[in-house]
Amino acid sequence: MSTHTHDSIRAVQWTGTQLSLLDQRLLPHESVYLEMDTATAAADAIRDMVVRGAPAIGVTAAYAVVLAARRAWAADQRGWRAGMAPDLKALADSRPTAVNLFWALARMGQVMEGLPDDQDPEPALLAEAERIHQEDVDGNRHMGDLGAALLQDGRDVLTHCNTGSLATGGYGTALGVIRSAYAQGRVKHVYADETRPWLQGARLTAWELVQDGIPVSLLCEGAAASLMREGRVGWVIVGSDRIAANGDAANKIGTYGLAVLARHHGVKFMVAAPTTTIDMEAATGADIPIEQRGQEEVLELAGRRVAAPGANAWNPAFDVTPAELIDAIVTERGVVENPDLQKMKALFAAD
Ligand code: MRU
Repeated sequence: MSTHTHDSIRAVQWTGTQLSLLDQRLLPHESVYLEMDTATAAADAIRDMVVRGAPAIGVTAAYAVVLAARRAWAADQRGWRAGMAPDLKALADSRPTAVNLFWALARMGQVMEGLPDDQDPEPALLAEAERIHQEDVDGNRHMGDLGAALLQDGRDVLTHCNTGSLATGGYGTALGVIRSAYAQGRVKHVYADETRPWLQGARLTAWELVQDGIPVSLLCEGAAASLMREGRVGWVIVGSDRIAANGDAANKIGTYGLAVLARHHGVKFMVAAPTTTIDMEAATGADIPIEQRGQEEVLELAGRRVAAPGANAWNPAFDVTPAELIDAIVTERGVVENPDLQKMKALFAAD
C-alpha cells in the first residue's frame, strides 16, 4: 500500500501559460486561485502571504523566473538576460528568511547562464522550474517515510505553523512526515498550534488535515507546556525556513519555545526539511536573517484592531532553535540525529 495517501492539495500550479497560486490568506473559508503572468506579481504574492512556506516560496520563485524571461525576451531578443534583472531583484527582495527562495533563483540562474543570447529562454527555464517542483514533491514523500520511521511509539504529535502541501510543492515536510506516519498507523491524532499572528495552524494545517481525513486538535501556543506535562505527545515535528551548517534551524516564531519545552518534558523534537532549506554558508543560526513584519499583524485580527490603543508590537516572523535541542533533522537525503557541523557536512558528501 502506498504510504503517500492523504494528499489532495496543490497550492502552486503552472497552468501551461501562467502561474496559479491558491490565495492562502482566504483559507479556510474560500479556495481562490490567483493567476499571474508577471514575476513582480509573484514577488508581491510572496511578500503578501498569498503563498508562504519555504519550499512553496522556492517553487513559486522558479516559475516566476519563467515569467520574467518571457517578458524580457518579448521586449528585447538580444538583451533578455539584462532585462530580467529588475524582476529577479524583486523576487530576491520579497522575503528574507526562507533560503529556498535564493536556492531556486540560483538554480534557475545556472540554466540562464548556459543559454545562448539569441535563444528564447522560456522553454529551458520552464523545464527547470517543473523539475524543481517535482523534485520537491518526490523529496517530501521520501522524507515522509524517513521521518515516519522514527515514530515508533504510536503517540500523538504536536506540530507548529503549516508545513503541508500548502507550504511546499506538495505533500509537505513536517506534515508530510505526519501524513506518512498516519498512513502507516504510527500516528492516529495530531495536535496543531494555532500559530499567531497569521494562524497558519488554525487556518491552514487544520484545513489540510481535515481535508485529508487526519484527526486534528488545535491548541493555543500557550497550551503546549501543559500538553507536554500531561504526557500527551511523544514528538514535536516542525519544518524549517533555513538550517545553518551547525544544525541550528530557523522556523516560525514560537518553534524555539516548543523545543525548550520539549527538552524539559522529555519529548522528542524533529525538524523535517529538504536539503534546499539548508544553508551551509550560514555557520550558525546567528547568520540567518530573521524577517520582521508589520506591527499591525499582532495588533489586529482579521483587519480589526484588538490591542489596546497606544500599544506597540514586536513581530519577528521566525526564531532559531539551537541544534542541541533538535533530536533529528529529517531530509530527503537522510536523517541527521543530534545534528552538528560534521554530520551536516556528511549529508552533502556524495556531491
Ligand atoms: O511565514 P510562513 O507562513 O511562510 O512561515 C512558514 C514556516 O515557518 C514553515 O514552518 C516553514 O516554511 C517550513 S514549510 C515546509
